[in-house]
Amino acid sequence: MKRRFFAALVTVMVLASLLAACGTPAPPPPEAPTGPTGSVEIFSWWTAGGEAEGLDAMYDVFAAEYPDVEIINATVAGGAGMEAKAVLATRMQAGDAPDSFQVHAGHELIDTWVVADKMEPVTFIFEENGWLDVYPPGVIEVLSSGGDIWSVPVNIHRSNVLWYNKQVLEDNGLTAPTSLDEFFDAADVLMAAGVTPLALGDSGVWVDLHLFESILLAELGPDAYRGLWDGTTDWNGSGVTAALEAFAQVMEYVNADHSALSWDQAAQLVVDGDAAGTIMGDWAEGYFKSVGLTPDVEFGYVPSPGTAGSFIMLSDSFGLPNGAPNRDGAIAWLTVCGSKDGQDAFNPIKGSIPARTDGDRSLYDVYLQSAMDDFVSNEIVPSLAHGSAASEGWVTAAGDAMTFFVADLDVEAAQAAMAQACVDAGMCE
Ligand code: GAL
Repeated sequence: MKRRFFAALVTVMVLASLLAACGTPAPPPPEAPTGPTGSVEIFSWWTAGGEAEGLDAMYDVFAAEYPDVEIINATVAGGAGMEAKAVLATRMQAGDAPDSFQVHAGHELIDTWVVADKMEPVTFIFEENGWLDVYPPGVIEVLSSGGDIWSVPVNIHRSNVLWYNKQVLEDNGLTAPTSLDEFFDAADVLMAAGVTPLALGDSGVWVDLHLFESILLAELGPDAYRGLWDGTTDWNGSGVTAALEAFAQVMEYVNADHSALSWDQAAQLVVDGDAAGTIMGDWAEGYFKSVGLTPDVEFGYVPSPGTAGSFIMLSDSFGLPNGAPNRDGAIAWLTVCGSKDGQDAFNPIKGSIPARTDGDRSLYDVYLQSAMDDFVSNEIVPSLAHGSAASEGWVTAAGDAMTFFVADLDVEAAQAAMAQACVDAGMCE
């Protein structure tokens, strides 16, 4: 009994001295991460006001859900990704794919990367997250080819919007034009008052294509506009001639330095009241908000003249390239991109609406709520300038034609070049 007591006492004394030697007890070892780790490189062209903040908001959602993965924000500046897509193509060819990259849903995704066998299908991510029921079938369709889904959409953007400075219109006794004729009438009033009617920033050639697709839709209407992309509407027809003539006329009302400005610099002319309006996708809404403006207060919006009832759509998405260095990290990123939380963090800032049908409407401002309503009630037609309507080669050829056109305003030459671009793309005879 005495011996046992003595042994216990010695044990206690040894433990006490050990503890004293070590100071405070060591904390338990940190739990090993169970999810993805390392870094994940996300490639996009979102650097302008609104775009960059929207992307950051989605990164914040990612960081909260995957604290063990570091995001590498790999951006290449330049609207519509003209520069970014060239850098991406070089990297993909060199076998140096980022973990995930921004790509427009539709032909840009399928005809460029999927047919070249550079992507891994993401159908399993849709299935595992139960997303097949929360995306509109039409959206899933444009992401699909050969029975698989090839990217995760983060949003729906609208291309055909005329944004205007409310004060400038009011000061000149004008309301927003709803047709091309009304636009030209209002533009004359503004010119006489010394205000640029339409801000244009086409240092990136896509901006001319962007403007032209709105004018094509105004002249042709949604059915004939759709037919341009499958060969059923004649590029040599009178509707396209009328659109080019209207485009030439519009060019009389734009700022003289248009070819030196980017889309957001053109939007800034509207903010400053130096121009009355600009025709741009609703990422311009993100821009206006990023400089502190409020929709329906300082700036207004209408469908670009002559296009009410139609919604030129495009969708930004992210894909999973074959050979993504951190495939698990990339899947984690795509899971956030497709989630309700990710989309509801990103889109209210970006100026787009969720691609999902269950976004929280209360988080979206008055413009975005109107876009949500229009997306379910309007005729939906695809954007040429943003990869939904036509293959990348066709977009490039059309862009080249527009570059010449805004310089020489030669309707006949531009129409012939646009018709040839359809033939070269294999859609027209
Ligand atoms: C579009 C893209 C938008 C916006 C815009 C200007 O192609 O879909 O998200 O970023 O370019 O950069």
